[in-house]
Amino acid sequence: MKKIFRFASVMIMVLMLLAMTGCDKTDNDKIVDTAAVVEDDKEIIPVEDNVSKEEDSATDIEVIDDGTASEAEELTPTEPAEKATSDQITAVIEGGIKDVYEQYGIKAGTCLSDAMITQSKYTDIITENFNSITHENFMKPDYLISKSKSIETGELSVEFTKRTTDLLDWAKSNGMSMRGHVLVWHSQTPDWIFYKNFDKAQGLVDRDTMLTRMESYIKQMFEQLDTLGYADMFYAYDVVNEAINDDGSYRDSLWKQIVGEDFIWYAFSYADKYAPETIKLYYNDYNEQFKTDYIVKLAESLVDDTGRSLIDGIGCQGHLYTGDSIDDYMSMLQAFSATGLDVQITELDVSLGTWQNILKATEENLLAQGQYYYEMVSRIIEENAAGTTNVSGITYWGFVDNLSWRNDRSPLLFDSNLEPKYAYHGARLDYDNAGY
Ligand code: G3I
Repeated sequence: MKKIFRFASVMIMVLMLLAMTGCDKTDNDKIVDTAAVVEDDKEIIPVEDNVSKEEDSATDIEVIDDGTASEAEELTPTEPAEKATSDQITAVIEGGIKDVYEQYGIKAGTCLSDAMITQSKYTDIITENFNSITHENFMKPDYLISKSKSIETGELSVEFTKRTTDLLDWAKSNGMSMRGHVLVWHSQTPDWIFYKNFDKAQGLVDRDTMLTRMESYIKQMFEQLDTLGYADMFYAYDVVNEAINDDGSYRDSLWKQIVGEDFIWYAFSYADKYAPETIKLYYNDYNEQFKTDYIVKLAESLVDDTGRSLIDGIGCQGHLYTGDSIDDYMSMLQAFSATGLDVQITELDVSLGTWQNILKATEENLLAQGQYYYEMVSRIIEENAAGTTNVSGITYWGFVDNLSWRNDRSPLLFDSNLEPKYAYHGARLDYDNAGY
């Protein structure tokens, strides 16, 4: 009872203060004001219990951008109370990113390349901050399908090479969980797999042959992961990557040209047949905030004849820019979560500016990047707590700018001297150092 009185009086003081200041702060200012109040009180309060349903639903209305902005403006004064629902307020900011996310049941991942496991300056950062690993490249078809073995056996043949197993061994010895990336993709896939006798001079194979090859390849992948002793590390696998265009049409890949649009259904059907139960199966894509409905429709179509879902989750790559709308991204995460499937951010990096206008790494732009990461992660945590999203993992597409595929855009958490950026503090939910 004493706690409730103390909290109520603090809330009254906050409301009075906000009335006096005209409520003109940014969303994140408001998060921190409330957080500071809770901190002053030296208690961890399950604040979501203190908020009415009306306030909750106001958040939902605000993220819908109908172009008029009138509802959002009207709702602004209720923002501080809404932010008080955030579980994020109770986060203990100790340890690395993984320790902070673990408090909310969210895995923290990074992609891994061979350059990252050779020096302790990198491995120390990985083991401190992440508990999930995705191979940046070496589990893609280009690196796992052997041409000589395929010609020898007459079927599409999988062969794990040392550069793949070196990374798996490193992950294993460091107790990491694995996201598999990727089985069926138009890119980083050898084109000879689509031709008769694996010979590009002999013309494309027919649908049935390609489906036989697909099944054999997916079967061998899971068999070999098991035989080599890695299967237990995997909790998630990207079965199909980047198959839908922004207008909802199917990408014109050789998979689609030979098999037809149902190549996606078959890929999931075979993965469902051969993957262990413990590995969840994902459709993964980028720009999903612009094609949300098409992906929902696709995911809902991936069922067997009994209506059982063949897909477990949707992966959102998250190659974003500081100019991209977080509201739009959250709406997409809500829509995917509403399907009942698991949702993961699988390749997060946030470049500076917009894709049409990339900005330099000035202090101002790096501050904005820190805030962007903070807001993205804290909103996911808030919405997960409210039950409006179902995001179980956030994987960053690397951690240090100079090893990023977008190393010209400073998208990651550490600079090239391995100094933590505002982005790192933002991603770790450390508000005080995140650039505000
Ligand atoms: O392995 C060869 C090596 O043998 C050769 O000497 C070298 C010379 O350029 O190239 C190496 O291949 C490169 C490969 O990365 C491995 O380092 C490719 O050229 C290069 O294009 C490739 O880039 C990768 C890109 O996917 C390819 O599409 C990036 O590292 C990787 O970060 C990126 O990851 C993708 C995700 O899988 C899917 N979502 C988008 C994301 C970013 O493009």
